[in-house]
Amino acid sequence: MKTVLLIVALCGAHTFAQPLTLDMTVFAERRTAFMNKMEPGSAAMFPCKPEYLRNGDVEYEYRQESNFYYLTGFEEPQSILLLNPTAERYKFVLFVRDRNQAMEIWDGTRYGTEGAMRILHADTALAYNDFRSAAKQFLSKEGALYYNFNINPQLDLMIRDMFVEGSSDNRSIKNSTSLLAEMRLIKKDGDLALGLRTAVNISAQAHIEAIKSIEPGMSEMEVQAVFEYVYRKNGSPRNGYPCIIGSGPNSCILHYSQNTRAMKSGDVVLMDCAAEYGYYSADITRTVPVNGTFTKEQRVLYQIVLDAQNAAIHLVRPGVSMKLLADAIDSVIGSGLVRLGFLKDKKDVNVFTLHGYSHWIGLEVHDVGSYLVEGKPRPLEEGMCFTIEPGIYVRPDAIDKLKRKSYTEQELSQIRNRIAPYLNIGIRIEDDILVTKQGYENMSALAPREIREIEKLMKEKGVGNTTQ
Ligand code: GLY
Ligand code: MN
Ligand code: MN
Repeated sequence: MKTVLLIVALCGAHTFAQPLTLDMTVFAERRTAFMNKMEPGSAAMFPCKPEYLRNGDVEYEYRQESNFYYLTGFEEPQSILLLNPTAERYKFVLFVRDRNQAMEIWDGTRYGTEGAMRILHADTALAYNDFRSAAKQFLSKEGALYYNFNINPQLDLMIRDMFVEGSSDNRSIKNSTSLLAEMRLIKKDGDLALGLRTAVNISAQAHIEAIKSIEPGMSEMEVQAVFEYVYRKNGSPRNGYPCIIGSGPNSCILHYSQNTRAMKSGDVVLMDCAAEYGYYSADITRTVPVNGTFTKEQRVLYQIVLDAQNAAIHLVRPGVSMKLLADAIDSVIGSGLVRLGFLKDKKDVNVFTLHGYSHWIGLEVHDVGSYLVEGKPRPLEEGMCFTIEPGIYVRPDAIDKLKRKSYTEQELSQIRNRIAPYLNIGIRIEDDILVTKQGYENMSALAPREIREIEKLMKEKGVGNTTQ
């Protein structure tokens, strides 16, 4: 009930998106935790993401590198973070763009060195252009340097020149990816409050609005417009990933994102869409009938996918692995497809399921964190956040795949007849699950999944309707 009230407040007609206020103590705690994990005597540098030209003098939308943001909350390009735990005074140093009135007229205000200290609480801040001449004064004479190559090619050249090839200050370069991945994998209150929970809420609300708006004749792109309207209306500056809105045969293309088809009565439309908020991405999929009522075939497949997803969701608690959840999904879908005559053996289920069922979410939609520990499936822990996203896709090439397995011509012919009424139906249901102390929370439960709830919701009008 509480969640519902929050969402109504989020989207109410008289409320407006407020800028996100960052709690800088969360970033300070992360820096301290990271510095405690660093090798004794070492320092760390983090490159910002480079800017990329789209064409002429137009750049692609800029998004800060995730680890850089995780440790600073700073979004500007041309910046370098330096952490030196053994320094007396300057443990947290930022190199940032200088203030520049001429440039700020075009591109907006910059923090500059003063802002980096005042707002981001850097112990000191210097001009980005002075990095080469000034950086070494913040490092001890020796000691390893954490630096991740292949994020910013221009900085890579400088770091190689300063600390690696032929340099008088040749030191061991270490990669910090796994240290940070382990930290980012466990979501704390700060992660949820800084954005993850809101990203999921906004995305669920957008799914509701899209489901209400869908009608035959509308193009997939208009559904995308509904999603993006709700995202922006609620303060999400960008999508967590490109909208996947696949109707009819496009529902069987896993990451279809052209979104150009006109939707027809009798189609399903698969919507894998979610917002980013505070740099966190949700990841939600709903599949609904374009005309508001599932056909018999769509209903049968939908219910199998939903039963499989529920079987997996109900198993979630600390100690179980994603492998156990995937096995539960395979078992429900496999049995369902054998029952329908699509398969003779449930072990062939992946002919129709096509993808994995879970991944971590966080600052990136496919977030960091290893899936194995010592070669074995990793047990879930409180604070981990991941998707459960089973699907069934009845593509014409399923028969070709079965041909390569031990199916006789007669069996293939029977299966061809069985799947004919289901061809080109793709169903995926995807939710965002937080592991709690006792079990789990389905963070995206606000977006309906039950057939009767979806059909009821589709009777309402949404912001995307052309006929009011
Ligand atoms: N949205 C991409 C995925 O579900 O993995
Ligand atoms: Mn996903
Ligand atoms: Mn997805």
